[in-house]
Amino acid sequence: MGEDAVIQDTLMGFSNGTQQNEPTRGGGLAQAIERHAETVRSHKRPLTGGVTSLPLSDDGMPLLSLNDSRVSLSEMVLSKENRDILLELIHEHRMRDLLAAHGLRPRRRLLLAGPSGTGKTQTAEALAYELGIPIARVRLAAVVSSYLGQTARHIEKILEFAKRGTLVLSFDEIDMLASDRNGSDNGEIRRVVTVILQELETYSSDNLVVATTNHGDLLDAALWRRFDEILTYKHPTQEQIYQLLKLKLRRAKHLKVNREQAAKTLHGLSHAQIESVCLDALRRNILSGEEYLTTGDIVECANSRKKRLREAGQTEK
Ligand SMILES: Nc1ncnc2c1ncn2[C@@H]1O[C@H](COP(=O)(O)OP(=O)(O)O)[C@@H](O)[C@H]1O
Ligand SMILES: [Mg+2]
Repeated sequence: MGEDAVIQDTLMGFSNGTQQNEPTRGGGLAQAIERHAETVRSHKRPLTGGVTSLPLSDDGMPLLSLNDSRVSLSEMVLSKENRDILLELIHEHRMRDLLAAHGLRPRRRLLLAGPSGTGKTQTAEALAYELGIPIARVRLAAVVSSYLGQTARHIEKILEFAKRGTLVLSFDEIDMLASDRNGSDNGEIRRVVTVILQELETYSSDNLVVATTNHGDLLDAALWRRFDEILTYKHPTQEQIYQLLKLKLRRAKHLKVNREQAAKTLHGLSHAQIESVCLDALRRNILSGEEYLTTGDIVECANSRKKRLREAGQTEK
């Protein structure tokens, strides 16, 4: 039992970078966000709510959806490099008035690239949450038309709408549509992304525009360089798997988990897949009535998930 306690301590006691690396969290940050939201409310024309006011495509489809976000950056396990850039960006956007007084603007065009399930979509939401502003998700299916001119007009409408308020404008999985349609031809991805970037060149708003792609490697560097900042997402390292275990198993009453052994089994899975394994293990633990959630639970859940992924023809990488 003494040994168990040590193991439990090891898991529960290791540093949780998600909390620790955030310099300004706590009351100060919460207040800053509230102050920011206040500023947004008083100085900007409000985003006119209601579905009818959303910009529509030529076919009458809404070109975006508008939501509040509830995910904070502290809920995420990120590389130090990415976390640092995101915190800097948040700071720049909070301090945009000060920057403007010096003739400067915050960085606005952000590209998040990396494999599926590593937190790109969630990052866009977390940015909106930390800035206390809504997130507008562009509905690419409605935006992209076989006529490039129409696509451009749709993007123009979106930017025109977005300019009226302060929000995070998200172009999620910009590659998906084009690759779905044309198989291996990524010429259309290029054209669509080029149109978006061209429209953004003349975009006068300071709104943060976040594009994500699971296939950054398909596109050439020249195109990507037109973004202000590119963040690369990867499957979690061993240390990041430890952080994920701590974060995603925090609801367990009692843990008896050897994190090295668990991390070894989870290696090669994405953040989202590891989260699913943790949820499987939590469910199993609750339903079994066992007091402790153990390494064995994690290993078994991980193996059965991996088996299903293999059967579904998805690699673990
Ligand atoms: N880096 C991460 N840290 C914590 N949880 C994550 C992370 N990446 C993914 N997740 C979990 O997996 C879910 C799906 O991730 P998502 O942001 O959609 O990945 P992507 O857009 O890269 O495919 C998230 O909602 C979150 O619960
Ligand atoms: Mg995504």
